Amino acid sequence: MKIALGSDHGGFHLKNAVKKHLEEKGFETYDFGTYSLESCDYPDYAERVAEAVVSGEYDFGVLVCGTGLGISIAANKVKGVIAAPVSDTFSAEMAKKHNNANILAMGERVVGEGLAMKIVDAFFDASFEGGRHEKRVNKIKAIESKNL
Ligand code: RB5
Repeated sequence: MKIALGSDHGGFHLKNAVKKHLEEKGFETYDFGTYSLESCDYPDYAERVAEAVVSGEYDFGVLVCGTGLGISIAANKVKGVIAAPVSDTFSAEMAKKHNNANILAMGERVVGEGLAMKIVDAFFDASFEGGRHEKRVNKIKAIESKNL
């Protein structure tokens, strides 16, 4: 499985830790930046990762900013993205099982590294359940088609 990673300066350290963790689990990763703590704009990295995922080049994305909010909001503007900002393991699991999220977003200023790794595990260990959830996700896609 190929995972696209991105962050702004506010998520830089956690993104690096997630990359190491995913690689230890056997995932292939690519870091779309940022590559330093210099102040930058989270939409730039959200867009890179979002496009890499919807193009099919990467299976999923993980985005990190200070809160997980700005970077997920930006990613969700790319057609085909379902980015879920998550700060607990239950929501991480449900984001995949029920919402079919293809991007997991977290906030480095919200979750500690230990919890973040459990969130990552909960997300990647889960699978979309389909069924009634598919109908609902298709309704999200219909809204997207009308408006994006
Ligand atoms: C950057 O200071 C911060 O605003 C950003 O990382 C993020 O939290 C925005 O949603």
